[in-house]
Amino acid sequence: MNNKEKIILEYEDKIKSLIRHNKLYYNKDNPKISDQEYDKIKKATLELEKKFPFLKKKNSVLDIIGSPPSNKFQKIKHLNPMLSLSNAFDKNDVEDFLKKINNFLNLKKDKIELFSEPKIDGISASLIYEKGNLTKGLSRGDGLVGEDILSNLKTIKEIPVKIKSNKVPDLLEIRCEIYISKKDFIKFKDKFANPRNAAGGSLRQKDPRETSKIPLKYFAYGFGVIEPMIFKKQSDFLEKIKDWGFSTNNLSKKIQNLDEVEKEHKDIDTIRSSLNYDIDGLVIKVNDLNLQKRLGNTSSSPRWAIAYKFSAEKATTKINDIVIQVGRTGAITPVAKVEPVTVGGVVVSNATLHNEDEIQRKDIRIGDTIQIQRAGDVIPQVISVDANKRKKESLKFIFPKKCLCGTPTIKEISKTTKKEDAVRRCVKGYDCKFIAKEKLKHIVSKEAFNIDGLGKKVVDQFWDLGFIKEPSDIFELDYSKIINLEGWGDLSINNLKKAIKKSQIISLDKFIYSIGIRHIGQENAKILASFFSSIKKFSEIFDLKNRKNILRNLLDLDGIGETQIQSINNFFSNSTNARITKDLIKKLNIKDFIIKNSDGKFSNKKFMFTGGFKNMSRSEAKAIVENNGGKVLGSISKKLNYLVVGDSKPTKKKIDQAKKLDIEIILEKDWNKILNS
Ligand code: IVH
Repeated sequence: MNNKEKIILEYEDKIKSLIRHNKLYYNKDNPKISDQEYDKIKKATLELEKKFPFLKKKNSVLDIIGSPPSNKFQKIKHLNPMLSLSNAFDKNDVEDFLKKINNFLNLKKDKIELFSEPKIDGISASLIYEKGNLTKGLSRGDGLVGEDILSNLKTIKEIPVKIKSNKVPDLLEIRCEIYISKKDFIKFKDKFANPRNAAGGSLRQKDPRETSKIPLKYFAYGFGVIEPMIFKKQSDFLEKIKDWGFSTNNLSKKIQNLDEVEKEHKDIDTIRSSLNYDIDGLVIKVNDLNLQKRLGNTSSSPRWAIAYKFSAEKATTKINDIVIQVGRTGAITPVAKVEPVTVGGVVVSNATLHNEDEIQRKDIRIGDTIQIQRAGDVIPQVISVDANKRKKESLKFIFPKKCLCGTPTIKEISKTTKKEDAVRRCVKGYDCKFIAKEKLKHIVSKEAFNIDGLGKKVVDQFWDLGFIKEPSDIFELDYSKIINLEGWGDLSINNLKKAIKKSQIISLDKFIYSIGIRHIGQENAKILASFFSSIKKFSEIFDLKNRKNILRNLLDLDGIGETQIQSINNFFSNSTNARITKDLIKKLNIKDFIIKNSDGKFSNKKFMFTGGFKNMSRSEAKAIVENNGGKVLGSISKKLNYLVVGDSKPTKKKIDQAKKLDIEIILEKDWNKILNS
């Protein structure tokens, strides 16, 4: 090999390595080298190019787009959180969604106009216009705080920098989805796994010139804040902003009922592959913006919209083994280890079998040929078994009765239905190391401590190495050991340290959610946090004498029932749980729970409802009280300020009790007056 050939080989090796690390960073979210190490290879490659001009005829290093992203983007708080959507996978899910909306608003079926839009599979961004001028451009970030990517967004020439109309609201926040067209993606297909990753990689470039190399496009689909508000319907909003020069999707359409949703879903699915951009479903929205406002949001998604995903991609494969996995609540889930197969562009080697009953019902066995499906980000499921392809000697699968830790598992009897649960559980809590590991993964997750750089895989690794056994260990990590591990460098260590430090300041509701009490999700954690208000008060629950009293009081809270109370009691009665939680508290700065809108018109007032209202559901009434700083209790006690009595079938006993305790009674007509005042 002559010298020139050697140089070319060395150069090509470096380019290959850059491409590999780009893929690991952007597509797999699993970088194997630090940013500095990456920069070193990039610099050496550029130097080779400079020294040996003949190399430039090849792929230049500058053509490799995803150069290391910067954490130098300024962080900016969103004016309103950027939420996500809940998913529907079939007609029943959409029907449930529509029922819930009708119930919440207390309206009759098919009275609500809907609006259907394609769900663009790209990267969301927010564009802020002040007096018609584009002044800020933010990435979604964690939904609450985004990154300032204005310069990069400005490389997209279809995004107006100035809106040419004198009717534009003073403040206009447009939410949009950035994408790369399927046609343009062909040029970058060796560098990124799919168009979505290419768009994400491009948008996060430090240097807008790099962004401009990937031809990005966008569709505006919604708004954040608009002042003054001039729109009445989603359809009017989209029409108007189209006039103002924004790109909107022309497959959006008004629809009136479930059947029309189904038809639209089928129609768009049929033309899906012919579109020049990726879509993964429809977004079905309530068209009337006033109704959207009344419906509001849950903690993670709006009640007025749902993503109706296109049907799952299917594939046939073989079960090599059936193993069990233990979840953070002790639930034992059987998982089929399957012959790797590509489903919708992703290689699948595991599929969930749900629970013991499901395996029995479908008579699923090791060695079976099965059909699996993958929908959205959820883990693939086994949908059917081809019994004809089964060997004669095949045996029924016997579900293990013990957890991986060796403890016998149990099936609980539901308090409400009195039926046996389909799920087997290990009840050892932190004393089962498999549960403990899953609890740690929950604690570091986005909705809990949100520790960047400490994902599931890292928790597994740190656990296996004995670095973390309990939550409090996260704050005592020995970084001198981590630096020696493959994939860790000074930069990633520093980032991890920073993320861990940041996570130590946490709000009470997130803390309660993080400790992973069964049946206490984000919503219930908020209800509990508003009851306790400080960690000091919360900590009284560790004391058995106080606990009984506290649990009795919790029953008063709307949303907390017997199931939750029992679960809280079980959690704190377990001495390991109690010790681990106390140790964790010592490491944290837990902020008091601040009731949103505590200065609202119902500030600090406690309400209870009985009977139905003509114009609104109980859920909406509750949301109104809470959005105005009040609380809704589940039973009558001296603490109550008002009993609101709806005209339809109020409970006489409640009214009598309230009268006895001198609690003010508000009748439906007066309630409506108060709300309109
Ligand atoms: S409406 C969640 N409409 O999907 C707030 N979203 O999972 C309401 N998306 O973050 C979103 N196309 O980035 C809406 N036509 C569309 C959309 C759309 C794509 C994205 C968006 C959002 C994500 C929610």
